[in-house]
Order: sequence, then C-alpha cells, then structure tokens
Amino acid sequence: MQDIKVPTPHIGAKKGDFATTVIMPGDPQRAEFIAQKFLDKAVLISDIRGMKGFTGYYEGKRVSVMASGMGQPSMGIYSYELFNFYDVENIIRVGTCGSLDGDLHLRDVIIAMGACTNSNYARQYELPGTFCPIADYALVKAAEEECNRRGINYKVGNVLSSDTFYDDSASASKWRKMNVLGVEMESAALYCNAARANKHAVCICTVSDSFVHPEEYATAEERRESFTAMMEVALKIAK
Ligand code: HPA
Repeated sequence: MQDIKVPTPHIGAKKGDFATTVIMPGDPQRAEFIAQKFLDKAVLISDIRGMKGFTGYYEGKRVSVMASGMGQPSMGIYSYELFNFYDVENIIRVGTCGSLDGDLHLRDVIIAMGACTNSNYARQYELPGTFCPIADYALVKAAEEECNRRGINYKVGNVLSSDTFYDDSASASKWRKMNVLGVEMESAALYCNAARANKHAVCICTVSDSFVHPEEYATAEERRESFTAMMEVALKIAK
C-alpha cells in the first residue's frame, strides 16, 4: 500500500470525519440529496472535484454519504481511500442499473451478491486465476430483510460491472444467458477493494432502464430523486 497522508489526494476530509459506514451513490448531487433529505446535522466534509461527502445522523446513527463518480476507476480511487486511509468499515453503494431480467421493471431493486466484469481492475492482484468479486454476506442479508419489510420487488444475484455504458458489441444478451440480472459500472471494483482491505461492501441498485423492456427508462431527475426506497434500505442497514 502506498504511504498516503490524510487528507488524501482525492478526499479533503480529516481523519475521523467519516462514520464507520459510507453510503455511496455515483452522482454527487444524489449524495447531497440523500444528506439533505435523510440526515440530521449533515456536515460537508469533502468537496474535491465536486465529489461531495457528508456526515450526519440517520435515526440517531452516525453515517456518511459520499459520491463515487461513474465507472470502476473512479469508484476504485474513492473506495480505496475510504477503506485504507479513513478507517471506513462498510461501503454501501446505491446506484442505478439497466435490467437484463424480464421480471425486473423500473424502480425494482437488484442486490448485487456478485459482480461480473469486463474490466481489468483485478489484474493488479496478479492472481493465478479469475477473482470473483462478491458482496459482504451480512450486508446482503440485511438488505434483503429490509427490502422484504418494505415490500420492494427485488432479486439477489449477479450484476455486470461494465467499463462501457455505450457498448458496440451488444454483449448484454451473452451475460443474460448466464443469469446476470443487470448492468452497472462500479460494483466489481468496490468488491475488489473491500476484499483486499478486509472490509465490507454491498451494492443495491434500482432499475433505471431495461434491456428487456426498452420502453422503460428513468429521466435524470427521476434517477436522482425518485429512488428513495433504495436509499432508505441503505441507511437502515448502515452499522
Ligand atoms: N449500463 C451501464 N450502467 C448503467 C445502465 C446501463 O444500461 N443503466 C444504469 N446504469
């Protein structure tokens, strides 16, 4: 591990500014929305590159929220610094995904138990085989229980963490035949960093569009503000 001082190159917060659990949406404006809507006494603790981070209280529990940006390189940087330099124990990604599963419609939820990927992120570990990036079991279980309590339509399974949003190869159907439930862009790097740091992560995704039902998609505004069920699940299971 590199010898990095806090504040880090990408996070302006001081040691101790983050809670044990960080909720991570991709979009900095969504991070601000979560802080304003759900947290008491939310304080802005980092704003480098506009990647806003806040710490406040949810139902009396200290919790942080900070954006990851889009894609595995960006998630890779922020989650690495949070796990390794800020003593963060748990990261709960709250994102959107494109559904590959015909039973999952707009606003349904995928709990990403595993994250397949077309990225080279795990090459850095120089393993003599293929690493399988998986979520923390306790966080998956807690997310599932909370979804059940709220009557949310969800599935637990694999997602594809893709390096491309606009993909020339129409590869979605190939992942679908392996029962991959949805496509997003960050979870595999997050799960790799959690494994390497011996920490905990899960990704909870709301379906914002569908490869099976292309007429179903959410606007940017809806993506930012209407996925509150997923945010509340994440806040509830934060430790
Ligand atoms: N692809 C990748 N990431 C996404 C998608 C998608 O279709 N929808 C929401 N995030």
